[in-house]
Amino acid sequence: MAAPDGMFITFEGIDGSGKSTQARLLADRIPDAVLTREPGGSPGAEEIRALLLTGDPARWSAETEILLFTAARRDHLEKTIRPALLAGRTVICDRFADSTRIYQGATRGDLRAAVDRLHDLMIGQEPDLTFIIDMDPVLALERGLARRSGEDRFEEMGLAFQETLRHGFLHLAHDHPERCVVIAGQRPPEEIAAEIAAQVAARMEPV
Ligand code: TMP
Repeated sequence: MAAPDGMFITFEGIDGSGKSTQARLLADRIPDAVLTREPGGSPGAEEIRALLLTGDPARWSAETEILLFTAARRDHLEKTIRPALLAGRTVICDRFADSTRIYQGATRGDLRAAVDRLHDLMIGQEPDLTFIIDMDPVLALERGLARRSGEDRFEEMGLAFQETLRHGFLHLAHDHPERCVVIAGQRPPEEIAAEIAAQVAARMEPV
């Protein structure tokens, strides 16, 4: 398969961290950007999203979740991400494989090796740049549940779960400094957006 040309930027963080707002604000600054999300981002993957995010928190085991999130990602990659990158467009994705590495790989037993093997086999794509929006889980959880989107399965797993996620994301950033940038999320959105735009501008001309 040909190497993609466009830049692939992802946003990660715990639930309620403000990353979706930041993904949108960045997309507003880049004329040709494709703004997309996971789980979802293609018709088939959006159907899988509904299975994953609604219902009883105990509905799926972490292992089953790994398979469903990866199935959704494969469809998203085939139908949306790769075609856009090959067309030279910037793809901005609200969550990607790092979410599976942390939510499924590091919260309910150590399943990281399984996540990584499946990723290598079925996805094999990493972002060029990942913004990890860091946030106090107490504040983030209030925001997340306050939205009551009906897609609260992971928010309902509670504060300790969100604390584990936060540490997981910070460790991941530490392990991948070549692509991960940690952003302090407890600031006005415009201030955060300006910092993110500056980081992107340093890697891509012009923003
Ligand atoms: P969102 O709230 O950012 O739209 O994300 C949906 C939820 O799905 C969020 O609670 C995180 C979770 N999730 C995983 O557990 N694993 C994944 O691989 C992805 C992409 C999301």
